[in-house]
Amino acid sequence: MAEEEDTIPVEEMVLSLVDQTGSINTSDVAKKLNVDHQVIVGTVKSLQSLGSGNIIIAKQQQSERWELTSEGEEVAQRGSHEAILFAAIHPEKGTLQSHLMKSSPNAKVGFSKAMSAGWLTIDKKGEDGPRVFRKVNTIVDTVQQQLQQVAAGNVTEVSDQQLKELKKRKLINMVVVKSFLVTKGSEFTTSLEKPETDLTPEMLASGSWKDKKFKPYNFDSLGVMPPSGHLHPLMKVRTEYRQIFLEMGFSEMPTNNFVESSFWNFDALFQPQQHPARDMHDTFFVKEPRHATDFPMDYLERVKTVHSEGGYGSQGYLYDWKLEEAKKNILRTHTTAVSARMLYKLAQQETFRPAKYFSIDRVFRNETLDATHLAEFHQIEGVVADYNLTLGDLIGILYEFFKKLGIMKLRFKPAFNPYTEPSMEVFSYHEGLQKWVEIGNSGVFRPEMLLPMGLPKDVSVIAWGLSLERPTMIKYGIDNIRDMVGHKVNLQMVQDNPLCRLDKSPQ
Ligand code: PHE
Repeated sequence: MAEEEDTIPVEEMVLSLVDQTGSINTSDVAKKLNVDHQVIVGTVKSLQSLGSGNIIIAKQQQSERWELTSEGEEVAQRGSHEAILFAAIHPEKGTLQSHLMKSSPNAKVGFSKAMSAGWLTIDKKGEDGPRVFRKVNTIVDTVQQQLQQVAAGNVTEVSDQQLKELKKRKLINMVVVKSFLVTKGSEFTTSLEKPETDLTPEMLASGSWKDKKFKPYNFDSLGVMPPSGHLHPLMKVRTEYRQIFLEMGFSEMPTNNFVESSFWNFDALFQPQQHPARDMHDTFFVKEPRHATDFPMDYLERVKTVHSEGGYGSQGYLYDWKLEEAKKNILRTHTTAVSARMLYKLAQQETFRPAKYFSIDRVFRNETLDATHLAEFHQIEGVVADYNLTLGDLIGILYEFFKKLGIMKLRFKPAFNPYTEPSMEVFSYHEGLQKWVEIGNSGVFRPEMLLPMGLPKDVSVIAWGLSLERPTMIKYGIDNIRDMVGHKVNLQMVQDNPLCRLDKSPQ
């Protein structure tokens, strides 16, 4: 605010000076008003930008001016070196030359200048060494006087020869001053009215808009960046994957429960209770509440049976299945827990209807952290339940899905998951790296998982999963996961990263 109040009067003063004299030079005005030249130049620039830009005309000018060096300033204030030296000499007894030389930092220059000015004599035969005496009673310090004139801008009072001498003594310097010659423009005015930028309801109501000047609309100016939130790269890529699933007729599963019971995360998936993944070193166990309580008990009984005794043509794992273990709350280690819940729900329908589900959300594993692993990440999962699906269907749909991501070359490698048989790791050929890289995991869910849920015998379910982080890091060229997720993330990165458009193949 203070700044505004200061600048308006300067603008008006400049305008009234132009009005009075027809033309002004910014450098002269600066001296006259005793303000920094840059302030006046700034004022002239802002006057030039007002209205349609025709209030004033400013033409650049160059002039040269003598300016005192810092040594020159000192001399102008305290006297020339020779005058100072002269004053240091005892009027009657004179002063030892050796003492005199130590009397001031510039005594040497002062001595030689005073000598040539004819102010001194030396007695070289003195007992203690050469002694300097004053030759005249008084002196006139013309150097100081000349510098004072230069400082005041009265250069005409100093002869060219004297200026040359001052410059040689490095007491003055020539500087080039860039200034503006300001004259009246076609729309010159001394009364400044800041043009309005907005038409307000008040102006309309009072009718004051009729007398106001409005700033012309600048169609070239950039819009103000809306102070909105920004989507994290992971969320941008998630949107793209979501779109692909939706295009393929999949519907999204509700994934809003990070805390899951071991039952749904492991037992329902026919993962035995001694499986190493259920260890504290791999899974985060929840302390409060430690146990889940709400289970569909008849289904739970069937799960218990298939683990401990077998059934549905399977011999099971033949161990003592414990409810205590199944009740333990954990942070879900995969989104297949969500798929298990959905498939159970699907099995409860009176007549089975084929379904295609997907999810993209967060999972948690007690991992050792490094550049590509965190204790939490996102999984993308697709599930298809239908009559008589085969491995061929799984392979077909994987080709279809990855084709939509522009990935054409796939290879499959037999793998093991407790809940799928057969299981396959999915590899794609990475053109950039010139090698096959693992991009996902997949399989056909086991009857030991599906039949206790109550799904019809001839229904099979195929599924696959991949991480969201890996494609996001590739897409956005991030090579350390900690630059993307966690407390070290540069929020500017989140703001600046562009939209995600995956290079999808032509259909
Ligand atoms: N749940 C598996 C994982 O966490 C991925 C997967 C999903 C595998 C579905 C097979 C079927 O790696």
